[in-house]
Amino acid sequence: MKVAVLCSGRGSNLLALLEAAEAGLLGPAELRLVLADSKEAGAINIAREWGLYAAVVPRTAYHANRDGFERRLLEVMAPHEIEIVVLAGFLRVLGPVFLAAFPNKIINVHPALLPAFPGRDVWPLEVASGVKLAGATVHLVEKGVDSGPIIIQGSVPVLDEDEPETLAARILKVEHRILPQALAWLASGRLIIEDGRVRLKDLPKTGREEEVFIWPPLEG
Ligand code: GAR
Repeated sequence: MKVAVLCSGRGSNLLALLEAAEAGLLGPAELRLVLADSKEAGAINIAREWGLYAAVVPRTAYHANRDGFERRLLEVMAPHEIEIVVLAGFLRVLGPVFLAAFPNKIINVHPALLPAFPGRDVWPLEVASGVKLAGATVHLVEKGVDSGPIIIQGSVPVLDEDEPETLAARILKVEHRILPQALAWLASGRLIIEDGRVRLKDLPKTGREEEVFIWPPLEG
């Protein structure tokens, strides 16, 4: 399954995908192409260092014309016969033109336990809200901001001394683990999507089904 990765920023999730591919952890998913919406995106350099085809489609060149921007993305992708799209820190909301081209084949990683805290720059909001658990989500992309059926989530504690930056770094480690896994599952046809929910085909029992994670930890 040929995969395009769309990025807007530094590209650490892209790097996690490249490392997972190298370790043979992506199943039938093959990373073919990286697209960025700005030439400042560090992800472009990472892609080139790893010998992956990379291109920039500057969003600013399209002003209010989201459809035009998305048609251009599709045009650049077309020769690569892309089958799956991963949004790895892609900070644009996709519209009908792009979504219609890849039904149930676009995934997004987000630094919160959705449906709480959708949107950009969520870490200050998570810290300020006083939640005790934060985390990351990978979901199938539907119209709307960070919305669509959830594939996998991972949680971390929010510490009393956390600043947005320290919480973001803890969550990022979760992102780097769950994004490659979600992509491998999608590419190998393991996701069953029904009534807005995702089930995993042939999910093996791990013995951890009753595990709970409580923060702050219980005493006594
Ligand atoms: C990641 O934390 C990702 O979850 C977030 O942007 C960051 C990109 O980092 N995405 C969103 O907030 C989407 N709403 P990266 O460029 O190092 O992968």
